[in-house]
Amino acid sequence: MKEENLIENLKIYGQTRTLKILENVDKETRKKIIEELHDINFIQLKELYNNIKEEAEVNVGELKPIKSLNPDKITKEEKEMYENVGADILRNNKFAVVTMSGGQGTRLGYKGPKGTFKIDVEPQAKYLFEIIVDTLQRANKKYNVTIPWYIMTSNENNDEIVKFMEEHNYFGYDKEYIGFFEQGELPLITEDGQILLDENYNIKKASDGNGSIFKSMYIKGVLEDMKTKGIEWVYIGSIDNVLLKMVDTLLMGVAIKEGSEIATRSIFKNCPTERIGSLCIQDGKVKVIEYSELPQDMIEAKDEDGEILFGESHVMCNLFSIKALEKISLQNLQYHKAHKKYSYLDENGKLVEPEEPNAYKFEYFIFDSFEFFNQISIVRGKREEDFAPVKNKEGVDSPRTAKELYEKFYAKQVVTKL
Ligand code: UTP
Repeated sequence: MKEENLIENLKIYGQTRTLKILENVDKETRKKIIEELHDINFIQLKELYNNIKEEAEVNVGELKPIKSLNPDKITKEEKEMYENVGADILRNNKFAVVTMSGGQGTRLGYKGPKGTFKIDVEPQAKYLFEIIVDTLQRANKKYNVTIPWYIMTSNENNDEIVKFMEEHNYFGYDKEYIGFFEQGELPLITEDGQILLDENYNIKKASDGNGSIFKSMYIKGVLEDMKTKGIEWVYIGSIDNVLLKMVDTLLMGVAIKEGSEIATRSIFKNCPTERIGSLCIQDGKVKVIEYSELPQDMIEAKDEDGEILFGESHVMCNLFSIKALEKISLQNLQYHKAHKKYSYLDENGKLVEPEEPNAYKFEYFIFDSFEFFNQISIVRGKREEDFAPVKNKEGVDSPRTAKELYEKFYAKQVVTKL
């Protein structure tokens, strides 16, 4: 776009602060800012601004509970039948894994990318990336394959992750089967829709959430790469669950047999007030509703067996058919906003450090992709076997609780699922 068109766009989209800064800077700096502006999608900027003004309303009246398959309630033969269907996909090299590691890990308060965090498990401390590799390697051995493994990074942590993995020789994983790709970013904007410039005159942006994965896989050619390899099913998991079993043949078998394009291993709520998102159905579509969005009577509601009605919870253990991924990559997921403090240059080019939240960061969430489907296969997992996240520095879901669960699980050698 020509410079005069960019300036025109700044005027149309009310970017008064940046226009003022442009008036006040030298030629060189002006050139730099103009270059930065080439990356701005002004239509999207307007959408973000509209999103700030809208109060997202959740129509909980339409919510219906969802059914899951409880592996403890099926016969051994049924279980084996599903697992064999899943295992066939694996043995035929039609399965890939993606690890989402573009997050900032703010709650953990660790400086580097979360995957480079070392957890003090017995008998030997391990990095989170290493734990993922261990799990994949066990499956590779069992099924005599090498599963293609893709790692989603962010602009902020990509170089560090790539370097870390290289320095650790990919923890013994065949490098030819590993692909790194960067997720997208969205600009930060103030309450009145202004973009922010940092002290180097760069437009301030932030990673656009784990739901970025679908578009990023499309844009970065990952989907195409998978299709070339003949991949039909893709497991997408987080970096921070030390009990994550990416190679879930039961889940895959259930999805295939039930004719679903998406599937998830859930965890059932410990108690009605546990703060995790509930899987449910709304207007015939699959949804995840955050704890904070459910009214008290729905939080407390029980079914005829006395189980929590909206107890089936989403914990980032998701499986997608390649067709589902292609379908989602062409859709626009909704934005979720967070109000935070960000430094910025004022109209005179002076750096301001705000004391109160002054701008919004926008994210897409992976589970918002579910609503493009009217069916999902859910297999109920167990905390002690499937879910030990490293989220907080201390207390619940911390390195201490993850270490305990990890050690208990591996001590028992209940490596039934890989
Ligand atoms: P969380 O939403 O728990 O975020 O991520 P986080 O970055 O680990 O931690 P906090 O919230 O800042 O404390 C769940 C998974 O999604 C990935 C994370 O790396 C983790 O595997 N994620 C999150 C991304 O890949 N990109 C993002 O933009 C956000």
